[in-house]
Amino acid sequence: MTDRELFIQAQDAMQYAYAPYSRYSVGAAVLTGTGEIFRGANIENASYGATLCAERVAISSAVFAGHKDDLIAIAICASSGEAVYPCGICRQFLFEFGADIRVITGKTVEALEIFPISELLPNGFRLENK
Ligand code: THU
Repeated sequence: MTDRELFIQAQDAMQYAYAPYSRYSVGAAVLTGTGEIFRGANIENASYGATLCAERVAISSAVFAGHKDDLIAIAICASSGEAVYPCGICRQFLFEFGADIRVITGKTVEALEIFPISELLPNGFRLENK
């Protein structure tokens, strides 16, 4: 699975977004060490704060399938056609499962930008007693 292929999976996942309030659809695709892909899209709510970002939907799906220790990468894309960078909550949510997880974003599949989550979230929070 190449970075481009993972990004295309995120693009395809956007169609499942539920975004009647912002009209801004986001798709995400997580790659695991076993080569499996778990996808997500944003799910909004009339109580705006209850909204789930695409990244957290995809990561939750992977973790619930047993992939808490082998998340390799997450690709994300938005209907705006601009590169989308994960929000603060999603950065922390991803960091929980590994500082080296690669975040793949970009305006198009030909112009990908790749960052380890530790670069997007320096000194991410961890509980010492984990
Ligand atoms: N959103 C995501 O799904 N991921 C991000 O990284 C940024 C924001 C969603 C949340 C909301 O449904 C919409 O984009 C507008 O904020």
